[in-house]
Amino acid sequence: MGLATSMTNEHDYMPQVEGTLPASLRGTLYRNGPGRFDLGGHRKRHLLDGDGMIQAFRFEDGRVHYRNRFVQTRKFIKEQAAGRFLLPTWTTRAPGGVRRNAGNRIQSQAGVTTLVKNGCLYAFDEVGLPWGLNPDTLETLGEQKVGPRRESLNFKAHTHTDPSTGQWGLLAFQHGRQNTVHLVEHRNDMAFIRHQRIPVPRSSYVHHWFLTQRYAVVLLHPLVLSPLPFLSGLASFTESLSWRPQDGNLVLVVDREAEQKPLFLEAPASFMWHTLNAYDEAGFIVADFVGYQEPDHFVGENAALRQIMEGRRGVSKATGQLRRYRIDLKKRSLIEEVISTRNCEFPALDQRLACGPHRYGYFTTATEPGIFHHGLARINTETGQETVMDMGAQTHMGEPVFVPEPGKGTDFGWLLSLGLDGRTGKSFLGVFRADEVSAGPVARVLLNHATPLSFHGHWQTA
Ligand SMILES: [Fe+2]
Repeated sequence: MGLATSMTNEHDYMPQVEGTLPASLRGTLYRNGPGRFDLGGHRKRHLLDGDGMIQAFRFEDGRVHYRNRFVQTRKFIKEQAAGRFLLPTWTTRAPGGVRRNAGNRIQSQAGVTTLVKNGCLYAFDEVGLPWGLNPDTLETLGEQKVGPRRESLNFKAHTHTDPSTGQWGLLAFQHGRQNTVHLVEHRNDMAFIRHQRIPVPRSSYVHHWFLTQRYAVVLLHPLVLSPLPFLSGLASFTESLSWRPQDGNLVLVVDREAEQKPLFLEAPASFMWHTLNAYDEAGFIVADFVGYQEPDHFVGENAALRQIMEGRRGVSKATGQLRRYRIDLKKRSLIEEVISTRNCEFPALDQRLACGPHRYGYFTTATEPGIFHHGLARINTETGQETVMDMGAQTHMGEPVFVPEPGKGTDFGWLLSLGLDGRTGKSFLGVFRADEVSAGPVARVLLNHATPLSFHGHWQTA
């Protein structure tokens, strides 16, 4: 399947466009995700693992330019020169046995998220610091120092920008004898504001988190790391994770100003990759996310994201459902509601609404259970009403990035989703009206080739 095929070529061309690109679409969509799964006869064991590759779609005057470049991390350069994988990654041990895997030797592949801040295009992994690139040329500039001056943290790929202040929130999870959540905030000019360390009672694997104008919320689901097999080099990081639903979720609430003590609340077990958004509402926090009954598509030898690497279907029965935590700060209690039972993932938002109240979320979706989706949905989080578009079972659709429409209010704009057409074996970028998703794409940018699964994107207005 094309999603799990390495893309070793770096392209630079003007793709054909089917339909008409909106004239107001001016700027660049950047995407990040694993581009290379294979080297020297070895293959990554998991679709969520590979060297980071940035793709840039630059829109100008009704035309679009496409370019992709690998992030030239230390790991990439070293292994490229050797012609083989030398280092372990989070799902795959390095060739050469325990000797090459003992201790934590994982280095950044810079292949999960991307965003532009102060003229720098950042590429994040879940280990180490982010890498910086030139947003025009995609030339790698090097590791970027963010966070406290004297401490290097393993930042999570997902960060939050609070549009009311421009402040940038970053999170790190330190696994160890004392598991610790680190919350770091920078001003919009990148000046360092604050670093909070919060000891937590479990070794959860955390991918995404929530930020409101007042609080950070971290969902500590019961997917926990056993350090011994990982550190001894006998198992990869993901092979050392186990799902313990009987322990339920723990939800950590952190005051961004550090005036109140951190709060821990219990919730039913629910695995989460991604949050949609969260906001403060008169003594409550409302937090929306996509939750699964279990991470069967991710954890275990038969998981769909593992089996696709061998060309097999694998297990993916639990569906992603849009859920809401309503946290009562005074009573210190939490209620979970299911907003929609529709199978969905990759939640996206009009980022002008981030950290504040929202009505709509945009998602990938599928009619049947499974982690590979072939449609897009807009869900009204107040009513549960859904608007859905299905591109057909042979097409894979990726995260819909919301692009505001100039001169219009919030919730009006475009959704940009990178699709892979199984019939042609080629990828395309679909452009949809956010308020008319079901009408299908107004335009498709047709690439000359397939691109592997790309996780996350960022829109930068020209
Ligand atoms: Fe993610």
